[in-house]
Formats: sequence, structure tokens, C-alpha cells
Amino acid sequence: MLRIAIIGAGRIGQVHARTVAAHPGAQLALIADPVAGAAAKVAEGYGCRSTESVDDVFADQGVDAVVVCSPTPYHVDQIIAGIAAGKAVLTEKPVDLSMARVEECIAAIAGNEHRVMVGFNRRFDPGVMELRQRVQAGEIGDLRQLTIISRDPAAPPAGYLTASGGIFRDMTIHDFDMARFLLGDFVQVATSAHAYIDDIGGIGDFDTATVTLTTASGAVCTILNSRVCAAGYDQRMEAFGPKGSLEATNLRTTGIRFNGASGTEVAGPYLPFFLERYADAYRNELDHFITSIEAGTAPSPSILDGKAALALADAADAAARQQTTVPLG
Ligand SMILES: NC(=O)c1ccc[n+]([C@@H]2O[C@H](COP(=O)([O-])OP(=O)(O)OC[C@H]3O[C@@H](n4cnc5c(N)ncnc54)[C@H](O)[C@@H]3O)[C@@H](O)[C@H]2O)c1
Repeated sequence: MLRIAIIGAGRIGQVHARTVAAHPGAQLALIADPVAGAAAKVAEGYGCRSTESVDDVFADQGVDAVVVCSPTPYHVDQIIAGIAAGKAVLTEKPVDLSMARVEECIAAIAGNEHRVMVGFNRRFDPGVMELRQRVQAGEIGDLRQLTIISRDPAAPPAGYLTASGGIFRDMTIHDFDMARFLLGDFVQVATSAHAYIDDIGGIGDFDTATVTLTTASGAVCTILNSRVCAAGYDQRMEAFGPKGSLEATNLRTTGIRFNGASGTEVAGPYLPFFLERYADAYRNELDHFITSIEAGTAPSPSILDGKAALALADAADAAARQQTTVPLG
């Protein structure tokens, strides 16, 4: 039974708290958040302990592992402190917004990389897992074109956006990891991006982006992102090869379709947002983390996967700003 603490009791911290509490191989031991009452409020629902001092988590002998769910700028220090205290670490994405900080983190945890996992949860989505397994089984032949569509229902609040590191490091980073998961390494990135929302353009960020990544063998991944989408949380993927294509489509609140005078094949809305859409993925992710840590094997995605996704985000950002194609080293 792995005794797990949650660091940061916000949106994703609450998802992980629920997932840990429900896992038969885990015990939700402690929740920490520096904002007065924030951790206690979440902990109350599970009858677990809480603290307003994150340092308590690292000192606690009743904690074997931590899930880092704090805002991104705190991840590196908390990963390092967790490892130094002998805890295993599942950290939310991105590891950091700065490559120098990610490298600092990798150096600090040297020898303990197998105790750190990065929360690219989409790798654990049942649809993504099946699509990848069928691509690898050769069902469509060589994967030549991969299209990833990821659009949010609404833009996050201004405060979040300002500290987010921009669309590529905050949002597209999931898709960069998906692209690597399916196609491996890339040699070139091209980006077109625009800000239709004044507040987003005003902070030098983009709300709409198309990124094209090319592999050495010529396979291409196209990522389509938008911070807003009238249809809701739009999460799709298509893999195309000489023998066919495989699609992972949106999940909906109901499988029933209406046919009548007002329309035909009218489907229910998409699942609202990441909490609902990726609930299975968060469960599978946690399960992999627990299984790996207990077996002493390295969980995946690793901190090096976190670094590789950030490198793609940095390159895509540069390509968007320079309006040019960027070779990848
Ligand atoms: N994998 C995913 O699907 C996913 C989804 C959302 C967010 N995230 C990532 O999770 C992280 C948190 O995002 P969020 O949306 O939950 O943010 P949030 O603002 O909802 O929650 C952050 C929480 O951390 C607390 N906090 C502030 N400073 C802290 C510190 N020094 N130590 C510990 N806790 C601190 C805040 O009080 C707040 O409760 C971000 O890095 C984000 O990129 C991942």
C-alpha cells in the first residue's frame, strides 16, 4: 500500500486526490496547500490529514510518494525536495517552463530518475492506448500522417494565462508528448499561430495554433489547438498509413443519437473538460505509477520525456514568433 500525499489542492490536485482515494493499492495520506483552508477542505471529504506547510509533506514518515499538483513554477523545487526526502514523485506537467530549470532538476535527481514520473495523462487514455497498440501491430502500415486535435471549451482566467508560459508550453505540451508517443523523434517544426482574443494577444500569447512536426523518415504530425471551442472539449486523433487509418473520436455524455424533423444523427455533447474526459487516463496513470514504484522499475513518461516535450514547445514557440521553420537538434 503506497501512502501518497497531494501537493496543491486546486483543480488537478482534487482529481488526483479522488483517484488516489479510490485506488485499492494506495492510501491518501496527506494533502498540502499553502492557501489557508484549501487542503483541509479537500481532505475533509476523504477523512485524511492536511497541512498548510508543504515542507511537512517531505518530513512526514507516513508518506511514501507525492503527487505534485502545485502551479508550474514550484514543480522543480518540490520534485527535488521529494526525492531528497526519499519519496517517489508523480509530477504534473510541465516539469517547468524553462529548459535550464528542467536540466537543473534532472541533475539534482541523478540516480533517482526511476522514482519520478511526469503526468502526461493522455498516454493512458484507453482510446489513445488502443490506437497506438493497433498502429504498432501494423494495422495501417507505416504511420505517415498523425493528426491531433485538441481544443478547450473556454480560455482559462487571465491570471492563469499570464503565468502559463504560453499556449505551447502549457497546452500543446500534452500534444507534443502524444506526437512523441506515436512517432518518436522529430527533425523539424513549423508553426502558424494567432491571437483572436485580445486579452491573450495583449500578453504576447496565442489562442489558436497549428504545429507541424516532421520525422527523419518524412512522417508528419499536425497538431491543431484552440483555447476556445463552441462545440466543447474537442479531443480527437487520426493516424493514417498506406493500409488505412485509425481514429480516436470524442467521448460524449451519451451514446444515443436523435433523428427527427429538427436534425438527424444528433449526438449528445462532448464530455465537458479534462476532469471528465480523462478520468480513466488519470486512474490508469496512477496505477502505472504505483505498480512501477512498488516493483522498483522506472515509470513512463519519465523526466526525460518531460524535457523532450518542453524542447518541442520551445521550438514551436520560436517558429511561431519568427514565422519560420525550425530545425530540431
Ligand atoms: N494533466 C492535466 O490534465 C492537467 C490539468 C490541469 C492542470 N495541470 C497542471 O497542474 C498544475 C496545477 O494546475 P491547476 O489547474 O490545478 O491549478 P490551480 O490553480 O487550480 O491549483 C493550484 C493549487 O496549488 C496551490 N499552491 C500555490 N502555491 C503552492 C505551493 N508553493 N505549493 C503547493 N501548492 C501551491 C494553490 O493554492 C492551488 O490550490 C499546473 O502545473 C498545470 O499545468 C495538469
